[in-house]
Amino acid sequence: MCAVPSLELDDIQGTVLRRRPDDYHGVYLLYRIDDPAAAKRSLREVLPKITSAADWELPRPFTLNVAFTYRGLARLGVPQESLASFSEEFRAGMAARKEVLGDLGANDPDNWTPPLGGPDVHIGVMIIAETPAGLHEPVDAAGRLAGVSLVYRLDVGVPVTGREHFGFRDGISSPYLLGSADRPLPGQDSVQPGEFVFGYPDQSGVPPKGPVPDVLGRNGCYLAFRQMHSDVAAFRRYLRETARSAEDEELLAAKIVGRWRSGAPLALAPDHDDPELGADPMRNNDFRYQDDPRGLCVPRGAHIRRANPRDSLVDTVVETGIHRVLRRGAAYGPVLPDGVLEDDGAERGIIFVFLGASLSRQFEFVQQVWLNRGDFAGLGTERDPLVGDNAGTGTHTIPARPVRRRLTGLPRFVTVRGGEYCFLPGLAALTWLTGLPDPAGAPSTTPHSSRPEDDR
Ligand code: HEM
Repeated sequence: MCAVPSLELDDIQGTVLRRRPDDYHGVYLLYRIDDPAAAKRSLREVLPKITSAADWELPRPFTLNVAFTYRGLARLGVPQESLASFSEEFRAGMAARKEVLGDLGANDPDNWTPPLGGPDVHIGVMIIAETPAGLHEPVDAAGRLAGVSLVYRLDVGVPVTGREHFGFRDGISSPYLLGSADRPLPGQDSVQPGEFVFGYPDQSGVPPKGPVPDVLGRNGCYLAFRQMHSDVAAFRRYLRETARSAEDEELLAAKIVGRWRSGAPLALAPDHDDPELGADPMRNNDFRYQDDPRGLCVPRGAHIRRANPRDSLVDTVVETGIHRVLRRGAAYGPVLPDGVLEDDGAERGIIFVFLGASLSRQFEFVQQVWLNRGDFAGLGTERDPLVGDNAGTGTHTIPARPVRRRLTGLPRFVTVRGGEYCFLPGLAALTWLTGLPDPAGAPSTTPHSSRPEDDR
């Protein structure tokens, strides 16, 4: 294997390499650029506050990262030859990729919450703090930015349960980027950094083609975010109606995800939950599937086995290392109190954030081929039982001895409220962006959000 260059930590935005704190409070803001020159002046003022991977661990009240949609880069005056060097799917935007992503029916961009998927989303700002008080100063400052209008705000934060809304510990498994300063945890797959950050070799041994000029692409990556509503009451009702007992409810929930709610992997705790294992980062991700080819412990259709089949596909031509996703999600909305089986109408779920060097080969592939189809694992038309587009007709096969179980009539537990494709530049690239001459005849903005078809 070729030598891996050290990552330029002080130029890479922190969220790429660093996890958010377990106890987190945050806000996701989206802006429309009204006046490109004033917007660039505002960004220049924000620059010193942007958190790099080098200063992420320092004591600080908050971390702040900034990304841009294709439309946003064009508004700032990125030259045409640079714009053309971004990938086709980034240029098209998430809404336009609805067929690939399977965003149909309830998930169709026509049903998304404005301004998501519309022409008014140009800049995304993510602010995360360990205490709610840590958010005050940056959020106030973000509200005073000139040249832009705030078009979306979503407050995120660790639910009081410490788990995502369906009740599972999340944010456990993640690839390890070779060349990072820290060490991999047991079971963490080492992946070439160019799979996630431009400017470094990827799994093929050479740096992938990124945006040009180099100053713009280097140390940057694509970011896909999706606001995903969780129908917690429907999940609980389905388990209650399908399971044979309270213990069986927990087993079925684990067979749907591939981990018990505590985070303990079924691969290591096949029969009973093991909360100590679930909470132990030295053990809770240290497993493979080679001893379980039929899925007797972890069904091949379980969410985590679909999203990362690990060594399940070694007999096929699929190189799983090129389809890894780096997740940086966060939960939003109030917790549905324990035991409640009826929906209270509250908006809750997760903001799913993908980071990587290829939207199509990584995020879209996993969404289209592994989550939304079953044929890669011999599961026919079955979709992901947790996040798949199962509108009451979904099935999920649970191999067991002497007879397998099959969950039928799976409803849709997760609905896409909308999302965007962005580019998360390195810090030098951000400086470059703020120094661009203003474009002659910058694309005009629409004062009110409209559907993507109007503008794409
Ligand atoms: C509301 C939506 C979702 C929920 C509630 C959810 C929940 C979870 C949970 C509980 C885990 C196990 C914890 C962990 O291993 O970190 C997990 C793992 C994972 N999820 Fe999701 N997820 C959602 C959407 C997605 C989507 C849309 C994707 C990809 C396009 C995805 C990709 C993954 C991956 C790659 C893993 C790690 C698998 C592994 O390495 O073993 N998830 N998810």
